[in-house]
Amino acid sequence: MSNTAPKLLVMGNWKMNPPTIGSAKELMLDIRKGIGRHKSEVEVVVAPPTVYLPEMERITPSQRILLGAQDVHSEKSGPHTGEVSLSMLESVGVSHIIIGHSERRAAGETDLEIYKNVQTVLKGKAVAVVCVGETHRDAHGNYFGVVEAQLRAALRDVKPMWLKYLTIAYEPVWAIGTGETATPEDAHEMRLFIQKILMDRFGRSALKKVRILYGGSVKPQNAEALLQEGEVDGFLIGGASLKAKDFTEIVKIGERYVKNNPS
Ligand code: PGA
Repeated sequence: MSNTAPKLLVMGNWKMNPPTIGSAKELMLDIRKGIGRHKSEVEVVVAPPTVYLPEMERITPSQRILLGAQDVHSEKSGPHTGEVSLSMLESVGVSHIIIGHSERRAAGETDLEIYKNVQTVLKGKAVAVVCVGETHRDAHGNYFGVVEAQLRAALRDVKPMWLKYLTIAYEPVWAIGTGETATPEDAHEMRLFIQKILMDRFGRSALKKVRILYGGSVKPQNAEALLQEGEVDGFLIGGASLKAKDFTEIVKIGERYVKNNPS
């Protein structure tokens, strides 16, 4: 994140939705209309299914909406059936890559693959949105250990000069798609914990460079409190990113928040 970068990042992860290119176009055009073209302190990224990317690039020419990918393969090319490389994604306009989403981890993605993907994306100077989060919470606070282990594995060998391309998304798995959200206090506590790990690993200057997002049932109703009390730097949004009205409302809540809290 450079000094001139917008304050917040709001990223939609469409996952395996919507069902056709026609409906994807409609959704993107509605989002485009809702967001407008004005300069903003909220960077907006949408990660549609890979197959829709070229058409999404065509209908989002202004750079007000940036394009993301939901995953990447760490190799440049070769015998990897069904996979896509960073250069393929970049060639259709992708600038932000989600890495290690809990649904990919649940499908068998390992810490080693996540590590390799982080290396590939950061070396390639694309933005890596690295997802971490516990599957459940226990009374003893073991979930901090889970998040720490995920982060340390993903960030091994990351060079300080790459940090401006790194974003962390804290996504407690129990809050994803469930309607249950972490409280702003939970999000804030985990933000501080992630910052401590970044500081241990890279020094204090890392805190200015790396955004920490929250994800897990973010909606217009809870976005403001998560910004205000959770002090997160934005959101990774699943379900609500499929509703143009909700997604654009969350972006507007972010814009209002930045306006009312100039730092
Ligand atoms: P959700 O998904 O907003 O539907 O909970 C978040 C995510 O999986 O990134």
